Amino acid sequence: MNPNVNAIIKNTVEQFKSTFNTYPDIILTSPGRINIIGEHTDYNEGFVLPAAIDKYIVFAISKRNDNVCKLYSIDLKDFHQFNLNEIKKNEKLWANYLMGVVNEFKGLESKIGGFNCAFSGNIPIGAGLSSSAALECGLAYALNELFNLTLDKLTLAKLCQRAENHFVGVKCGIMDQFANLFGQENFAIMLDTRYLKYKHYPLQLNDYAIVIADSKIKRELASSEYNLRREQCEMVVKILQKYNPEIKALRDVTTNMLENFKEEINKNDPFFNNTLYKRAKFVVEENERVLKTCEYLTKEDMQSIGKLMYESHIGLRNLYEVSCQELDLLVDIALNHPSALGARMMGAGFGGSTINLVLKNELEDFVSNLKTKYHNLTGKSVDVHIINITKGTSKVNIE
Ligand code: GLA
Repeated sequence: MNPNVNAIIKNTVEQFKSTFNTYPDIILTSPGRINIIGEHTDYNEGFVLPAAIDKYIVFAISKRNDNVCKLYSIDLKDFHQFNLNEIKKNEKLWANYLMGVVNEFKGLESKIGGFNCAFSGNIPIGAGLSSSAALECGLAYALNELFNLTLDKLTLAKLCQRAENHFVGVKCGIMDQFANLFGQENFAIMLDTRYLKYKHYPLQLNDYAIVIADSKIKRELASSEYNLRREQCEMVVKILQKYNPEIKALRDVTTNMLENFKEEINKNDPFFNNTLYKRAKFVVEENERVLKTCEYLTKEDMQSIGKLMYESHIGLRNLYEVSCQELDLLVDIALNHPSALGARMMGAGFGGSTINLVLKNELEDFVSNLKTKYHNLTGKSVDVHIINITKGTSKVNIE
């Protein structure tokens, strides 16, 4: 574990003790995630290839003898308290992610009680690195342990996804929660989101580095546009189902089918301009790219993976229309540097980060070139993170 995290752990425990006047029963680290490829495919029952990274939220938590839940965000210096029997949505988004999780636990047979919880982390918020899933899964993991519920990781991942769908109102897929809980050091996870079957692929970076470039742009529209994309995908499925009832999700659609039914899709498109067709085309192609990327990972063909990453970006930009000027620019600058194998926007889009696959021996030059050119062209700064692939949420033992 890197020294940075040890400092966060130490601070979280100290803050916990001084806030709640007791020792934590459980301390854990809950990681952020990247996604190599497979964007907006998870809610279409397709494939994704994420990995947990060494950016964390650290949780310290203890049982209480009543039904009160006390939450303390150390970084925001913000406190929120509620009773298990009275869980209501709040204006604090961070608290809603956590209350959503508690609310889902309440629906289970085995019961939880009140608890004290303090947390702190270094996952940049809104950067597309899933700080929200880290919040949800960290708490879910802790409550599962604290109250001896013996739920398995998949159940926890699904529970957290439901929390975000129902309580926060983002109809996200399961990728982020899955990556958070199933991450393994130096492995990417190929997840088939229909069957929830997965395989870990070694991601030995050796000569390469994964660079995250955070534009720090956050679009207000992000969650409503996200939900709209999901709806548009479902509309295409409905249209195609009339001709082939076997089609349950875009996962079942091929490029051929799309071409054959293009006119039909366009006729039924309330958004006009080939919108529905474009959305579906992106998802179908992105699923294929995930499968190809896995083949290339096996062959350690990073050059080809880089190319697919860029193709993914083009699709996200032109067909799925979830990129933005800043992200496009970051990708362009990156790819104009000789050390870059691939670059694309990552996560839901409308701001957030790009992910770049870069040759390690020219890393420094890559980073300074990206920072300088981006600043010169936009007047804005970009935050750069060089990340490592790490294990999923896990307990920390300290004396
Ligand atoms: C967000 C969602 C995920 C996934 C990505 C896009 O991170 O939480 O479920 O849909 O966007 O790939």
